[in-house]
Amino acid sequence: MDVDDGDAGLELVHLLRRITGRLDLMAAEFAAANGLHPTDLRALMHLLDARREEVPATPGWLSGKLALNSASVTALVDRLVRAGYVRRTRDNRDRRRVLLSVQDDAIRLGWSFYGGLITDMVDAMREFDGAELALARRFLDRIHDVVRADKPTNPTVRLVPLDEATTERLLSVAVHEARPIDVMPVPDSTSTWTPATENAFREFHRAHFHGANGTVMYAVEAEGSLTGMIRMARLSQDEAETGMWLGRSARGKGIGTAALRALVTEAAAAGVRTIVADTSTGNAAALGALRTCGATLTHRGDDVRAELPIG
Ligand SMILES: CC(C)(COP(=O)(O)OP(=O)(O)OC[C@H]1O[C@@H](n2cnc3c(N)ncnc32)[C@H](O)[C@@H]1OP(=O)(O)O)[C@@H](O)C(=O)NCCC(=O)NCCS
Repeated sequence: MDVDDGDAGLELVHLLRRITGRLDLMAAEFAAANGLHPTDLRALMHLLDARREEVPATPGWLSGKLALNSASVTALVDRLVRAGYVRRTRDNRDRRRVLLSVQDDAIRLGWSFYGGLITDMVDAMREFDGAELALARRFLDRIHDVVRADKPTNPTVRLVPLDEATTERLLSVAVHEARPIDVMPVPDSTSTWTPATENAFREFHRAHFHGANGTVMYAVEAEGSLTGMIRMARLSQDEAETGMWLGRSARGKGIGTAALRALVTEAAAAGVRTIVADTSTGNAAALGALRTCGATLTHRGDDVRAELPIG
């Protein structure tokens, strides 16, 4: 669609550009004052975000974030390691995988750049009430959607029925990128992974190998990587229930929607006529995936029941 000069949004676009330009300049000045290249500072900011969001940061992940090739990322990480900001460690579960973790000096550096800015911004936001901030949030989410580098691109997804080896790989994703409560039934008090919860994970999935107990569980493979799980539990001849989870770094890229579409194909082949799912009003991603695949949503308080007719 064309934009004309009178477009009400244009002024906001220019303002956003001015804000990002100013932030870039501040970051470049701060990087130079601390003997860093601007890209090194951007890398540190991504690594600090990954730490806060509990996303495992690997050199490959970082090269995606910075749009740099692997040789350049290796040189950049070498510089950050030499400066004492980053450490390379081996993943305990997958020894071939290198993880990047930020050191206390990087946290101090990040805070000395952003700390004052964050305090001033939060102060400024106190001038607005809850409804105004909710509107600002919706506006920024929408604009973020437009500029996100990792926006959904119809990823190629394959559903792999679980067996012993795949369950072990799935467990590795779950331990690094999800909470026990996201991936299996656990008591409310279980918040972290322990050897006992890992074994409970294995047992829970083993109980459904080869569709045992009427439930088929699939690992969700996207672009060749294992990212999470989707299940189909037969309720009757015509009806099946579904539920799924993805690791944090795989969410919001269209994989959930693609996995649900693939499950609908499996369900149709098995003679299922309706898929149902239960979720909540706060789970925007689950609701979005279900809606996009054609589900009708019925709200009851915070609970939402989805019904997806097949065929
Ligand atoms: C729920 C889940 C499986 C969805 O998969 P996903 O790959 O993240 O979702 P998608 O990227 O396919 O996005 C689906 C829709 O939700 C929207 N969406 C995705 N993440 C979102 C977010 N954080 N906030 C708002 N909307 C979001 C997408 O824009 C898309 O909407 P659209 O089809 O209208 O464009 C995944 O987010 C997840 O594992 N969450 C944690 C576990 C969980 O909640 N499981 C479901 C229990 S019912």
